[in-house]
Amino acid sequence: EVIDGQGGTLAPALVELHAHLREPGQTEKEDLASGLAAAAAGGYGTVVCMPNTRPVIDDPATVRALIEKAEGLGFARLKPAAALTRGQKGEALAELSYLKEAGAAMFTDDGLTNEDARVLRLGLEYAGSLGMVVSVHAEDATLRAGGVMNEGPVSEALGLPGNPAAAEAARVARDLEILAGLREQGRSARLHIQHLSTARALDLVREAKARGLPVSCEVCPHHLDLTDEALRSFDAVYKVAPPLRTRADADHLLQGLLDGSVDCLATDHAPHTRAEKERDLLEAPSGIAYIELAFPLMWTRFGERLGLEQLLDLMTAGPCRVMGWPEPSLDAGAPADLVVLDLHTERAVNPAEFKSKAKFTPWQGQTLRGWPLLTVVGGRVAYWRG
Ligand code: NCD
Ligand code: ZN
Ligand code: ZN
Repeated sequence: EVIDGQGGTLAPALVELHAHLREPGQTEKEDLASGLAAAAAGGYGTVVCMPNTRPVIDDPATVRALIEKAEGLGFARLKPAAALTRGQKGEALAELSYLKEAGAAMFTDDGLTNEDARVLRLGLEYAGSLGMVVSVHAEDATLRAGGVMNEGPVSEALGLPGNPAAAEAARVARDLEILAGLREQGRSARLHIQHLSTARALDLVREAKARGLPVSCEVCPHHLDLTDEALRSFDAVYKVAPPLRTRADADHLLQGLLDGSVDCLATDHAPHTRAEKERDLLEAPSGIAYIELAFPLMWTRFGERLGLEQLLDLMTAGPCRVMGWPEPSLDAGAPADLVVLDLHTERAVNPAEFKSKAKFTPWQGQTLRGWPLLTVVGGRVAYWRG
């Protein structure tokens, strides 16, 4: 079959290591069909979904059922992350090898408050022996507690409880020391830091990499494009964990993308219902959902500084290197996971058109370019605009 690329740019399909698709159990926020259709519309061919669902994704049967269901949908390919602990309640899981066999892509503590260093150490060691990555939300639970935005002059001016940068740095430092200790004992543990948001935590990761530790990190586009100034609106659409930080943090993270110390971009697509997000800032749940516009956002805002090749690397080969997956390729014979991007046509963000159930976004009405025209997953058309 010949498809007219309409003058677009052909690239490997994007790879998302961090999305909350809310299935099972919270399908009023999102489900596999809406979330994976949204991903395909955003140019993604592969999505790792987080296990903070109801019930938590912590057993092989659920992992298998999700993968099977996603295959039948024909949108982006699903690779579920499994919880590092049973029910994400902090008790070490003995079944990591069965979860791996069932198709779990990684183990994670994302979306909960498991701060037990001993359990993380056990998980890193066990997962590492299986050749698998452990990803961590990396915020100290007691330091972040109660904070609804970044702690600093803006939170003080607004009189809102703050979540300090030290919550992230303290947890990253702790986890890196746990990793270093395991490595000294010859263990093969690998650690991935999710949604890194502060300058200090990035510097800690840089130092750890310089020491040769097997650590990787992701940065989210929202932490590059938005800052704590947005909370002056008191709009919970800007409430996210970790919180939007300062301009200096965002600039430092961008520097990390440019110099290669950040391994990949990830959106942390975290949909909630409109009613939940319209609640008071103190009450509303955290999370920003925008998997459909992540590439256009990055290309429009940072395309000139990053260049197309580096940006695509951060959204395709970069996440694959984190996971130990083969790097995507456009060579003949390689699996056809492809996206055609229109790098030029400007379009206003219209959430009413979103495939995601979360039909609102901080970037509503903003003009972006770089929209996907076509996404092919495993040789099948998963999204075709128009
Ligand atoms: C995530 C969610 O809603 O599940 N929220 C968020 O603000 N990032 C949880 C998470 O990523 O820790
Ligand atoms: Zn998280
Ligand atoms: Zn998350």
